[in-house]
Amino acid sequence: MQKGCVKMDTDRYIVDGQHRLEGQVWVHGAKNAALPILAASLLCDGCEIENCPDLSDIRAAENILRHLGCRTAWDEDSNGQKVLSVIPAPAAVWDIPDALMQQMRSSIVFLGAIVARCGRAKLSYPGGCELGPRPIDLHLSSLKKLGVQILEEGNELVCSVPHKLHGAKITLPFPSVGATENIMIAATLAEGETVICNAAREPEIVDLAGFLNACGARIRLCSDGTIAICGVPKLHGCRYRVIPDRIVTVTYLCCCMTATGEVTVRGAQPQHLGAVLPVLEEMGAQLHTDGNDIHLRCKAPLRAANTISTMPYPGFPTDALAPVMAVACYAQGSTIFVENIFQDRFKQAWQLCRMGADIHAEGRVAVVRGPQQLHGTKVQCTDLRGGAALVVAALGAQGRTEIEQIHHILRGYEKLDQTLRTLGAAIVRK
Ligand code: UD1
Repeated sequence: MQKGCVKMDTDRYIVDGQHRLEGQVWVHGAKNAALPILAASLLCDGCEIENCPDLSDIRAAENILRHLGCRTAWDEDSNGQKVLSVIPAPAAVWDIPDALMQQMRSSIVFLGAIVARCGRAKLSYPGGCELGPRPIDLHLSSLKKLGVQILEEGNELVCSVPHKLHGAKITLPFPSVGATENIMIAATLAEGETVICNAAREPEIVDLAGFLNACGARIRLCSDGTIAICGVPKLHGCRYRVIPDRIVTVTYLCCCMTATGEVTVRGAQPQHLGAVLPVLEEMGAQLHTDGNDIHLRCKAPLRAANTISTMPYPGFPTDALAPVMAVACYAQGSTIFVENIFQDRFKQAWQLCRMGADIHAEGRVAVVRGPQQLHGTKVQCTDLRGGAALVVAALGAQGRTEIEQIHHILRGYEKLDQTLRTLGAAIVRK
Protein backbone atom coordinates (compact mmCIF):
# COMPACT_ATOMS: atom_id res chain seq x y z
CA MET A 1 0.00 0.00 0.00
CA GLN A 2 1.24 3.47 -0.82
CA LYS A 3 2.14 5.97 1.86
CA GLY A 4 -0.81 8.22 0.95
CA CYS A 5 -3.27 5.33 1.37
CA VAL A 6 -2.07 4.67 4.93
CA LYS A 7 -2.98 8.22 5.89
CA MET A 8 -6.38 7.92 4.20
CA ASP A 9 -7.12 4.78 6.22
CA THR A 10 -7.02 6.79 9.42
CA ASP A 11 -9.32 9.51 8.06
CA ARG A 12 -12.94 9.59 9.05
CA TYR A 13 -16.03 11.72 8.64
CA ILE A 14 -17.69 13.24 11.67
CA VAL A 15 -21.34 13.93 10.94
CA ASP A 16 -23.77 15.79 13.17
CA GLY A 17 -27.16 14.75 11.86
CA GLN A 18 -30.49 16.47 11.26
CA HIS A 19 -29.26 19.62 9.54
CA ARG A 20 -31.66 20.49 6.75
CA LEU A 21 -29.98 20.64 3.30
CA GLU A 22 -30.59 23.50 0.94
CA GLY A 23 -28.94 24.79 -2.23
CA GLN A 24 -27.37 23.39 -5.36
CA VAL A 25 -24.46 21.11 -6.14
CA TRP A 26 -22.77 20.10 -9.38
CA VAL A 27 -22.27 16.43 -10.00
CA HIS A 28 -18.77 15.36 -11.06
CA GLY A 29 -17.77 13.07 -13.92
CA ALA A 30 -18.48 9.35 -13.75
CA LYS A 31 -15.69 7.20 -12.33
CA ASN A 32 -17.01 4.12 -14.11
CA ALA A 33 -16.97 5.95 -17.45
CA ALA A 34 -13.57 7.59 -16.94
CA LEU A 35 -11.77 4.34 -15.98
CA PRO A 36 -12.33 2.39 -19.22
CA ILE A 37 -11.77 5.58 -21.21
CA LEU A 38 -8.38 5.98 -19.52
CA ALA A 39 -7.54 2.35 -20.35
CA ALA A 40 -8.62 2.95 -23.97
CA SER A 41 -6.48 6.10 -24.11
CA LEU A 42 -3.47 3.77 -24.34
CA LEU A 43 -4.47 3.11 -27.94
CA CYS A 44 -4.93 6.66 -29.12
CA ASP A 45 -2.57 9.38 -30.04
CA GLY A 46 -2.96 11.54 -26.93
CA CYS A 47 -6.23 12.68 -25.40
CA GLU A 48 -7.71 15.15 -22.98
CA ILE A 49 -10.47 13.86 -20.72
CA GLU A 50 -12.76 16.66 -19.57
CA ASN A 51 -14.85 16.37 -16.40
CA CYS A 52 -12.52 13.60 -15.19
CA PRO A 53 -13.19 13.12 -11.47
CA ASP A 54 -10.18 13.33 -9.15
CA LEU A 55 -10.61 10.12 -7.17
CA SER A 56 -8.28 7.50 -5.73
CA ASP A 57 -9.46 4.95 -8.34
CA ILE A 58 -8.65 7.43 -11.10
CA ARG A 59 -5.21 8.07 -9.54
CA ALA A 60 -4.71 4.27 -9.53
CA ALA A 61 -5.50 4.18 -13.26
CA GLU A 62 -3.12 7.09 -13.77
CA ASN A 63 -0.38 5.15 -11.96
CA ILE A 64 -0.95 2.21 -14.33
CA LEU A 65 -0.77 4.51 -17.38
CA ARG A 66 2.48 6.00 -16.10
CA HIS A 67 3.93 2.56 -15.45
CA LEU A 68 3.05 1.72 -19.07
CA GLY A 69 5.10 4.71 -20.21
CA CYS A 70 2.40 7.36 -20.69
CA ARG A 71 2.66 10.89 -19.44
CA THR A 72 -0.36 12.25 -17.62
CA ALA A 73 -1.19 15.78 -16.46
CA TRP A 74 -4.08 17.42 -14.65
CA ASP A 75 -5.37 20.81 -15.68
CA GLU A 76 -8.52 22.89 -15.23
CA ASP A 77 -10.78 24.19 -17.98
CA SER A 78 -12.33 27.67 -18.00
CA ASN A 79 -15.26 26.39 -15.83
CA GLY A 80 -12.85 25.13 -13.18
CA GLN A 81 -13.49 21.50 -14.11
CA LYS A 82 -10.68 18.96 -14.09
CA VAL A 83 -9.12 17.79 -17.34
CA LEU A 84 -6.76 14.81 -17.40
CA SER A 85 -4.39 14.60 -20.38
CA VAL A 86 -2.78 11.32 -21.40
CA ILE A 87 0.16 11.28 -23.77
CA PRO A 88 1.09 7.73 -24.72
CA ALA A 89 4.71 6.70 -25.29
CA PRO A 90 5.98 3.89 -27.56
CA ALA A 91 4.53 0.54 -26.53
CA ALA A 92 7.51 -0.80 -24.58
CA VAL A 93 5.88 -1.98 -21.34
CA TRP A 94 3.14 -4.61 -21.31
CA ASP A 95 2.94 -5.74 -17.69
CA ILE A 96 1.02 -4.39 -14.72
CA PRO A 97 2.71 -5.20 -11.40
CA ASP A 98 0.61 -6.87 -8.74
CA ALA A 99 0.74 -3.82 -6.43
CA LEU A 100 -0.89 -1.65 -9.11
CA MET A 101 -3.44 -4.33 -10.02
CA GLN A 102 -4.55 -4.68 -6.40
CA GLN A 103 -5.13 -0.93 -5.96
CA MET A 104 -8.30 -1.19 -7.97
CA ARG A 105 -10.36 -4.21 -9.07
CA SER A 106 -11.32 -2.67 -12.38
CA SER A 107 -7.65 -2.58 -13.46
CA ILE A 108 -8.62 -5.68 -15.49
CA VAL A 109 -10.08 -3.33 -18.11
CA PHE A 110 -6.49 -2.48 -19.08
CA LEU A 111 -6.03 -6.04 -20.39
CA GLY A 112 -7.81 -5.48 -23.72
CA ALA A 113 -5.94 -2.22 -24.26
CA ILE A 114 -2.49 -3.66 -23.54
CA VAL A 115 -2.91 -6.68 -25.82
CA ALA A 116 -4.24 -4.45 -28.61
CA ARG A 117 -1.30 -2.08 -28.17
CA CYS A 118 1.58 -4.47 -27.52
CA GLY A 119 0.40 -7.87 -28.81
CA ARG A 120 1.03 -9.26 -25.34
CA ALA A 121 0.30 -8.54 -21.71
CA LYS A 122 1.21 -9.82 -18.28
CA LEU A 123 -0.79 -8.95 -15.24
CA SER A 124 -1.92 -10.51 -12.03
CA TYR A 125 -5.40 -11.83 -11.42
CA PRO A 126 -7.48 -9.07 -9.82
CA GLY A 127 -8.97 -11.52 -7.32
CA GLY A 128 -12.08 -11.02 -5.23
CA CYS A 129 -13.17 -7.82 -3.59
CA GLU A 130 -15.41 -6.52 -0.87
CA LEU A 131 -18.52 -7.32 -2.96
CA GLY A 132 -17.67 -11.04 -3.08
CA PRO A 133 -15.96 -13.10 -5.81
CA ARG A 134 -15.51 -11.19 -9.05
CA PRO A 135 -14.59 -13.69 -11.75
CA ILE A 136 -13.14 -12.57 -15.09
CA ASP A 137 -13.95 -15.71 -17.09
CA LEU A 138 -16.11 -13.72 -19.55
CA HIS A 139 -13.29 -11.22 -20.16
CA LEU A 140 -10.83 -14.05 -20.84
CA SER A 141 -13.04 -16.27 -23.01
CA SER A 142 -14.04 -13.24 -25.12
CA LEU A 143 -10.46 -12.06 -25.65
CA LYS A 144 -9.52 -15.62 -26.67
CA LYS A 145 -12.16 -15.40 -29.41
CA LEU A 146 -10.40 -12.28 -30.70
CA GLY A 147 -7.13 -14.23 -31.02
CA VAL A 148 -5.50 -13.73 -27.62
CA GLN A 149 -3.71 -16.72 -26.12
CA ILE A 150 -3.96 -16.69 -22.33
CA LEU A 151 -1.93 -18.75 -19.88
CA GLU A 152 -2.89 -18.62 -16.24
CA GLU A 153 0.35 -19.13 -14.28
CA GLY A 154 -0.48 -19.10 -10.58
CA ASN A 155 -1.83 -15.65 -9.90
CA GLU A 156 -0.58 -14.31 -13.24
CA LEU A 157 -2.20 -13.98 -16.62
CA VAL A 158 0.30 -14.23 -19.44
CA CYS A 159 -1.28 -13.16 -22.72
CA SER A 160 0.02 -13.11 -26.26
CA VAL A 161 -1.37 -12.53 -29.73
CA PRO A 162 0.38 -15.10 -31.98
CA HIS A 163 -1.05 -13.69 -35.21
CA LYS A 164 -3.22 -10.57 -35.21
CA LEU A 165 -6.33 -9.70 -33.27
CA HIS A 166 -9.29 -10.58 -35.46
CA GLY A 167 -13.01 -9.86 -35.31
CA ALA A 168 -15.40 -12.45 -33.89
CA LYS A 169 -18.99 -12.97 -32.90
CA ILE A 170 -19.20 -13.05 -29.11
CA THR A 171 -22.38 -13.83 -27.21
CA LEU A 172 -22.14 -12.94 -23.55
CA PRO A 173 -24.16 -15.21 -21.23
CA PHE A 174 -24.54 -12.19 -18.92
CA PRO A 175 -24.19 -8.54 -20.02
CA SER A 176 -21.00 -7.92 -18.00
CA VAL A 177 -19.96 -4.27 -18.03
CA GLY A 178 -16.23 -4.95 -17.67
CA ALA A 179 -16.15 -7.77 -20.24
CA THR A 180 -18.05 -5.63 -22.77
CA GLU A 181 -15.52 -2.83 -22.23
CA ASN A 182 -12.52 -5.12 -22.65
CA ILE A 183 -13.92 -6.56 -25.89
CA MET A 184 -14.80 -3.13 -27.28
CA ILE A 185 -11.33 -1.77 -26.61
CA ALA A 186 -9.45 -4.78 -28.02
CA ALA A 187 -11.75 -5.13 -31.05
CA THR A 188 -11.29 -1.49 -32.03
CA LEU A 189 -7.88 -2.32 -33.55
CA ALA A 190 -8.67 -5.92 -34.60
CA GLU A 191 -8.88 -6.99 -38.24
CA GLY A 192 -12.49 -7.29 -39.40
CA GLU A 193 -15.78 -6.99 -37.57
CA THR A 194 -16.62 -7.98 -34.01
CA VAL A 195 -20.21 -8.37 -32.92
CA ILE A 196 -21.05 -8.55 -29.21
CA CYS A 197 -24.49 -10.02 -28.51
CA ASN A 198 -26.13 -9.46 -25.13
CA ALA A 199 -23.61 -6.69 -24.46
CA ALA A 200 -23.95 -4.40 -21.44
CA ARG A 201 -25.95 -1.24 -22.19
CA GLU A 202 -24.92 0.98 -19.27
CA PRO A 203 -24.43 4.69 -20.04
CA GLU A 204 -20.73 4.13 -19.31
CA ILE A 205 -20.58 1.69 -22.26
CA VAL A 206 -22.14 4.33 -24.51
CA ASP A 207 -19.57 6.82 -23.24
CA LEU A 208 -16.66 4.47 -23.99
CA ALA A 209 -18.00 3.98 -27.52
CA GLY A 210 -18.33 7.77 -27.82
CA PHE A 211 -14.72 8.25 -26.80
CA LEU A 212 -13.34 5.53 -29.08
CA ASN A 213 -15.41 6.80 -32.03
CA ALA A 214 -14.13 10.33 -31.36
CA CYS A 215 -10.63 8.81 -31.76
CA GLY A 216 -11.55 7.23 -35.12
CA ALA A 217 -12.98 3.86 -34.06
CA ARG A 218 -16.05 2.43 -35.82
CA ILE A 219 -18.40 1.21 -33.11
CA ARG A 220 -22.15 0.96 -33.55
CA LEU A 221 -24.48 0.39 -30.60
CA CYS A 222 -27.79 -1.21 -31.53
CA SER A 223 -30.93 -0.92 -29.44
CA ASP A 224 -31.22 -4.72 -29.12
CA GLY A 225 -28.08 -4.88 -26.97
CA THR A 226 -25.75 -5.76 -29.84
CA ILE A 227 -22.52 -3.86 -30.41
CA ALA A 228 -20.79 -3.99 -33.81
CA ILE A 229 -17.14 -2.95 -33.99
CA CYS A 230 -15.42 -2.60 -37.32
CA GLY A 231 -11.67 -2.73 -36.68
CA VAL A 232 -9.52 0.22 -37.80
CA PRO A 233 -5.71 0.26 -38.22
CA LYS A 234 -5.11 3.05 -35.72
CA LEU A 235 -6.69 5.73 -33.57
CA HIS A 236 -5.98 9.43 -33.40
CA GLY A 237 -6.32 11.64 -30.34
CA CYS A 238 -9.30 13.65 -29.10
CA ARG A 239 -10.70 15.87 -26.39
CA TYR A 240 -13.66 14.16 -24.75
CA ARG A 241 -16.10 14.99 -21.98
CA VAL A 242 -17.02 12.23 -19.55
CA ILE A 243 -20.72 11.81 -18.59
CA PRO A 244 -21.85 12.90 -15.12
CA ASP A 245 -21.81 10.23 -12.42
CA ARG A 246 -25.31 8.78 -12.06
CA ILE A 247 -24.55 7.06 -8.75
CA VAL A 248 -23.11 10.23 -7.20
CA THR A 249 -26.29 11.99 -8.38
CA VAL A 250 -28.45 9.40 -6.59
CA THR A 251 -26.32 9.70 -3.46
CA TYR A 252 -26.78 13.50 -3.27
CA LEU A 253 -30.55 13.04 -3.70
CA CYS A 254 -30.64 10.38 -0.96
CA CYS A 255 -28.71 12.72 1.37
CA CYS A 256 -31.45 15.31 0.95
CA MET A 257 -34.12 12.70 1.69
CA THR A 258 -32.75 11.66 5.09
CA ALA A 259 -31.63 15.17 6.13
CA THR A 260 -34.79 16.72 4.59
CA GLY A 261 -34.58 19.93 2.57
CA GLU A 262 -34.57 21.24 -0.95
CA VAL A 263 -31.64 20.60 -3.26
CA THR A 264 -30.88 20.98 -6.96
CA VAL A 265 -28.33 18.56 -8.42
CA ARG A 266 -26.91 20.30 -11.48
CA GLY A 267 -25.11 18.92 -14.51
CA ALA A 268 -26.82 15.52 -14.14
CA GLN A 269 -28.37 13.29 -16.78
CA PRO A 270 -31.81 12.35 -15.40
CA GLN A 271 -32.40 10.02 -18.38
CA HIS A 272 -29.70 7.71 -16.93
CA LEU A 273 -31.77 7.34 -13.75
CA GLY A 274 -35.03 6.09 -15.22
CA ALA A 275 -35.17 3.17 -12.77
CA VAL A 276 -34.18 5.17 -9.68
CA LEU A 277 -36.02 8.49 -9.72
CA PRO A 278 -39.51 6.88 -9.63
CA VAL A 279 -38.42 4.89 -6.55
CA LEU A 280 -37.33 8.07 -4.77
CA GLU A 281 -40.67 9.65 -5.66
CA GLU A 282 -42.51 6.61 -4.35
CA MET A 283 -40.59 7.07 -1.08
CA GLY A 284 -41.73 10.66 -0.71
CA ALA A 285 -39.35 12.85 -2.70
CA GLN A 286 -40.89 15.61 -4.78
CA LEU A 287 -38.80 15.62 -7.94
CA HIS A 288 -38.66 18.01 -10.84
CA THR A 289 -36.20 17.68 -13.70
CA ASP A 290 -35.27 20.56 -15.95
CA GLY A 291 -32.68 19.66 -18.60
CA ASN A 292 -29.58 18.68 -16.66
CA ASP A 293 -30.94 19.77 -13.29
CA ILE A 294 -32.76 17.54 -10.82
CA HIS A 295 -34.62 19.43 -8.15
CA LEU A 296 -35.63 17.47 -5.04
CA ARG A 297 -37.76 18.59 -2.14
CA CYS A 298 -38.32 16.29 0.76
CA LYS A 299 -39.75 16.54 4.18
CA ALA A 300 -40.50 13.61 6.46
CA PRO A 301 -42.35 11.27 6.62
CA LEU A 302 -40.88 8.93 4.04
CA ARG A 303 -42.68 5.85 2.76
CA ALA A 304 -41.37 2.35 1.97
CA ALA A 305 -40.90 1.49 -1.70
CA ASN A 306 -42.13 -1.59 -3.52
CA THR A 307 -39.55 -4.37 -3.88
CA ILE A 308 -36.31 -3.03 -5.36
CA SER A 309 -34.46 -5.58 -7.52
CA THR A 310 -31.10 -4.71 -9.00
CA MET A 311 -30.64 -5.50 -12.70
CA PRO A 312 -28.30 -4.66 -15.54
CA TYR A 313 -29.10 -1.29 -17.17
CA PRO A 314 -31.77 -0.04 -17.73
CA GLY A 315 -32.82 -1.78 -14.51
CA PHE A 316 -32.19 -0.52 -10.98
CA PRO A 317 -28.39 -0.21 -10.62
CA THR A 318 -26.67 -2.35 -8.00
CA ASP A 319 -24.51 0.66 -7.08
CA ALA A 320 -27.60 2.65 -6.04
CA LEU A 321 -28.87 -0.04 -3.68
CA ALA A 322 -26.88 0.94 -0.58
CA PRO A 323 -27.72 4.69 -0.50
CA VAL A 324 -31.41 3.92 -1.12
CA MET A 325 -31.30 1.29 1.64
CA ALA A 326 -30.17 4.01 4.05
CA VAL A 327 -33.21 6.10 3.04
CA ALA A 328 -35.49 3.07 3.52
CA CYS A 329 -34.43 2.86 7.19
CA TYR A 330 -36.32 6.13 7.80
CA ALA A 331 -39.38 5.19 5.72
CA GLN A 332 -42.74 4.00 7.05
CA GLY A 333 -43.22 0.31 6.18
CA SER A 334 -41.00 -2.50 4.89
CA THR A 335 -38.80 -2.20 1.82
CA ILE A 336 -37.46 -5.40 0.27
CA PHE A 337 -34.18 -5.29 -1.64
CA VAL A 338 -33.17 -8.10 -4.00
CA GLU A 339 -29.56 -7.98 -5.19
CA ASN A 340 -29.08 -9.86 -8.45
CA ILE A 341 -25.62 -8.72 -9.56
CA PHE A 342 -23.12 -9.23 -6.71
CA GLN A 343 -23.10 -11.75 -3.86
CA ASP A 344 -22.02 -9.57 -1.00
CA ARG A 345 -23.75 -6.23 -1.36
CA PHE A 346 -25.40 -5.96 2.08
CA LYS A 347 -22.32 -5.49 4.26
CA GLN A 348 -23.42 -1.97 5.19
CA ALA A 349 -26.63 -3.41 6.70
CA TRP A 350 -24.88 -4.43 9.91
CA GLN A 351 -23.36 -0.94 10.26
CA LEU A 352 -26.78 0.65 9.69
CA CYS A 353 -28.21 -1.66 12.38
CA ARG A 354 -25.60 -0.33 14.80
CA MET A 355 -27.18 3.09 14.16
CA GLY A 356 -30.59 1.68 15.08
CA ALA A 357 -31.84 0.36 11.72
CA ASP A 358 -33.97 -2.78 11.55
CA ILE A 359 -32.57 -4.77 8.62
CA HIS A 360 -32.70 -8.49 8.08
CA ALA A 361 -30.39 -9.60 5.28
CA GLU A 362 -29.98 -13.13 4.06
CA GLY A 363 -28.46 -14.22 0.77
CA ARG A 364 -29.66 -11.96 -2.00
CA VAL A 365 -32.58 -10.44 -0.05
CA ALA A 366 -32.67 -7.73 2.61
CA VAL A 367 -35.79 -6.49 4.38
CA VAL A 368 -35.65 -3.01 5.90
CA ARG A 369 -38.37 -2.23 8.44
CA GLY A 370 -39.13 1.38 9.21
CA PRO A 371 -39.47 3.97 10.28
CA GLN A 372 -36.56 3.94 12.70
CA GLN A 373 -34.97 7.08 14.09
CA LEU A 374 -31.28 6.26 13.62
CA HIS A 375 -28.77 7.58 16.15
CA GLY A 376 -25.14 8.51 15.78
CA THR A 377 -22.42 6.05 16.73
CA LYS A 378 -19.05 4.85 15.42
CA VAL A 379 -19.38 2.93 12.13
CA GLN A 380 -17.02 1.61 9.48
CA CYS A 381 -17.29 1.78 5.70
CA THR A 382 -17.31 -1.70 4.25
CA ASP A 383 -17.11 -0.77 0.55
CA LEU A 384 -17.58 2.26 -1.70
CA ARG A 385 -21.39 2.46 -1.94
CA GLY A 386 -21.87 0.98 1.52
CA GLY A 387 -19.73 3.85 2.82
CA ALA A 388 -21.87 6.38 0.97
CA ALA A 389 -24.94 4.78 2.59
CA LEU A 390 -23.49 5.49 6.03
CA VAL A 391 -23.16 9.19 5.14
CA VAL A 392 -26.78 9.21 3.89
CA ALA A 393 -27.90 7.56 7.14
CA ALA A 394 -25.80 9.83 9.37
CA LEU A 395 -27.27 13.02 7.88
CA GLY A 396 -30.71 12.06 9.24
CA ALA A 397 -29.50 10.52 12.51
CA GLN A 398 -29.84 11.99 15.96
CA GLY A 399 -26.45 13.03 17.33
CA ARG A 400 -22.94 12.44 16.04
CA THR A 401 -21.81 9.65 13.73
CA GLU A 402 -18.12 8.84 13.25
CA ILE A 403 -17.59 7.12 9.93
CA GLU A 404 -14.26 5.29 9.71
CA GLN A 405 -12.42 3.68 6.78
CA ILE A 406 -13.49 6.46 4.44
CA HIS A 407 -10.83 5.50 1.89
CA HIS A 408 -13.63 3.35 0.42
CA ILE A 409 -15.74 6.49 -0.17
CA LEU A 410 -12.80 8.42 -1.64
CA ARG A 411 -12.61 5.83 -4.44
CA GLY A 412 -15.79 7.20 -5.94
CA TYR A 413 -16.83 10.56 -4.43
CA GLU A 414 -14.82 13.72 -4.94
CA LYS A 415 -14.85 16.00 -1.88
CA LEU A 416 -18.14 14.57 -0.60
CA ASP A 417 -17.77 16.35 2.75
CA GLN A 418 -17.09 19.75 1.17
CA THR A 419 -19.98 19.37 -1.24
CA LEU A 420 -22.43 18.47 1.52
CA ARG A 421 -21.19 21.35 3.67
CA THR A 422 -22.13 23.81 0.92
CA LEU A 423 -25.70 22.50 1.36
CA GLY A 424 -25.62 23.06 5.11
CA ALA A 425 -24.62 19.59 6.34
CA ALA A 426 -22.45 19.36 9.45
CA ILE A 427 -19.80 16.96 8.17
CA VAL A 428 -16.04 17.25 8.52
CA ARG A 429 -13.14 15.02 7.55
CA LYS A 430 -10.64 14.38 10.32
C1 UD1 B 1 -19.11 -2.55 -13.18
C2 UD1 B 1 -18.97 -1.32 -12.32
C3 UD1 B 1 -19.61 -1.55 -10.98
C4 UD1 B 1 -21.05 -1.97 -11.17
C5 UD1 B 1 -21.14 -3.17 -12.11
C6 UD1 B 1 -22.56 -3.59 -12.45
C7 UD1 B 1 -16.89 -0.31 -13.04
C8 UD1 B 1 -15.50 0.02 -12.69
N1 UD1 B 1 -17.55 -1.04 -12.14
O1 UD1 B 1 -18.41 -3.61 -12.54
O2 UD1 B 1 -19.56 -0.34 -10.25
O3 UD1 B 1 -21.56 -2.34 -9.91
O4 UD1 B 1 -20.48 -2.86 -13.35
O5 UD1 B 1 -23.25 -2.53 -13.02
O6 UD1 B 1 -17.41 0.07 -14.06
N2 UD1 B 1 -19.14 -11.71 -13.96
C9 UD1 B 1 -18.73 -13.01 -14.20
N3 UD1 B 1 -17.67 -13.21 -15.04
C10 UD1 B 1 -17.02 -12.16 -15.64
C11 UD1 B 1 -17.45 -10.83 -15.39
C12 UD1 B 1 -18.52 -10.64 -14.53
O7 UD1 B 1 -19.27 -13.97 -13.66
O8 UD1 B 1 -16.06 -12.41 -16.39
C13 UD1 B 1 -20.26 -11.47 -13.02
C14 UD1 B 1 -19.80 -10.73 -11.77
O9 UD1 B 1 -19.29 -11.63 -10.80
C15 UD1 B 1 -21.07 -10.08 -11.30
C16 UD1 B 1 -21.76 -9.73 -12.61
O10 UD1 B 1 -21.18 -10.59 -13.61
O11 UD1 B 1 -21.85 -11.00 -10.60
C17 UD1 B 1 -21.64 -8.27 -13.00
O12 UD1 B 1 -20.32 -7.95 -13.27
P1 UD1 B 1 -19.91 -6.82 -14.30
O13 UD1 B 1 -21.11 -6.29 -15.04
O14 UD1 B 1 -18.78 -7.34 -15.10
O15 UD1 B 1 -19.44 -5.68 -13.33
P2 UD1 B 1 -18.05 -4.95 -13.33
O16 UD1 B 1 -17.67 -4.60 -14.72
O17 UD1 B 1 -17.09 -5.72 -12.50
